[in-house]
Amino acid sequence: MITKEAVIQALSHIYDPEFNKPAAELNLIRDVMTKETQANLTFVLTREDELLKEQYRQDVEEALKPLGVQDVHIRFRMITDYERAEVAKKLQENSAPRQEGGPIPTHAPAQGAAPLLSPESETRFIAIASGKGGVGKSTVTVNLAAALARRGKKVGIIDADIYGFSVPDMMGVEERPQLVNERIIPIERHGVKIMSMGFFVEDNAPIIWRGPMLGKMLRNFFSEVEWGELDYLLLDLPPGTGDVALDVHQMIPHSKEIIVTTPHATAAFVAARAGAMAVHTDHEILGIVENMSYYVNANGEKDYVFGRGGGAKLAEQLHTDLLAQIPLGAPDNHPAEPDYSPCVYKAETETGRLYLEVADQVIKKLG
Ligand SMILES: Nc1ncnc2c1ncn2[C@@H]1O[C@H](COP(=O)(O)OP(=O)(O)O)[C@@H](O)[C@H]1O
Ligand SMILES: [Mg+2]
Repeated sequence: MITKEAVIQALSHIYDPEFNKPAAELNLIRDVMTKETQANLTFVLTREDELLKEQYRQDVEEALKPLGVQDVHIRFRMITDYERAEVAKKLQENSAPRQEGGPIPTHAPAQGAAPLLSPESETRFIAIASGKGGVGKSTVTVNLAAALARRGKKVGIIDADIYGFSVPDMMGVEERPQLVNERIIPIERHGVKIMSMGFFVEDNAPIIWRGPMLGKMLRNFFSEVEWGELDYLLLDLPPGTGDVALDVHQMIPHSKEIIVTTPHATAAFVAARAGAMAVHTDHEILGIVENMSYYVNANGEKDYVFGRGGGAKLAEQLHTDLLAQIPLGAPDNHPAEPDYSPCVYKAETETGRLYLEVADQVIKKLG
């Protein structure tokens, strides 16, 4: 028979993100009832967060399966102010350290750092979006990340573009992340910590399977990757305004956005849709990066090969700033160099300098 005590015991590793303690220990898991292979319980939440509910649902189901529970019914409700005060009081009274030899929590957050998605987290999220592929979204992501790192910031990238994860290649990463104490250690390049869908998707997995996987994987990227302290976490979003991009937007409610476009009028028009989605999901737009803006010809003049003005027009339309106009031209890097990466412009080049300016504007806007 499945007992109530066994259920509570099995859930002891599930942490409440606000109090940073096991939810069961805080009496946030209540009304546990079992009947044959069914379990019912109430989960008291310390914040209204669909993502958290989904995570709890998964964790509870996984934890109870070994007990033989086949059907779990969870009722979620918000903690009341009174209950919150009670929990805080109890914690203060009994602030003894966790019992030696007790079960090791598998979902315990990294020591010292607040979980990335928690309200206490100091990490600023910046999603890089575009209306369509091929405009340089990933190029902008990796170069802005490198520029922020050059300014002394602690930076991470999540490559969430399931259709064309390219961040590892662009930064010259060939290795795969290691697992240490059941936590994923991101790869570091140019002072930037990198996590990519590409590390985990089989090369030939049909794209249709990737959509549903993304949400789950992305959640793991937040909870199970050892990011350490981060000032900025950049997300390379899938292009366009499809379901996947929308999911990502909703998963990170407090993210800011940068929209990448080329100068062509139609490109800017398509990018405006990505902008509309940012507005719809309450994401503040930090600005526009216009990429492939011009080509500096042999005479040192600017040729506007893809037209002109798209970025400025888009910025005006979305009531935001044009952060930079990046010229055409691949970085002049060589595979023999240490820390080689094919797509990161060196700090002292013209384009490298433009990215530093973007980084400075971001730092100024976000602190
Ligand atoms: N300013 C630029 N000058 C020259 N090539 C560029 C520039 N920006 C991007 N590229 C190249 O264009 C291609 C598409 O860029 P990418 O960043 O992958 O776009 P997206 O992520 O929007 O699909 C890549 O091969 C990239 O190296
Ligand atoms: Mg890309």
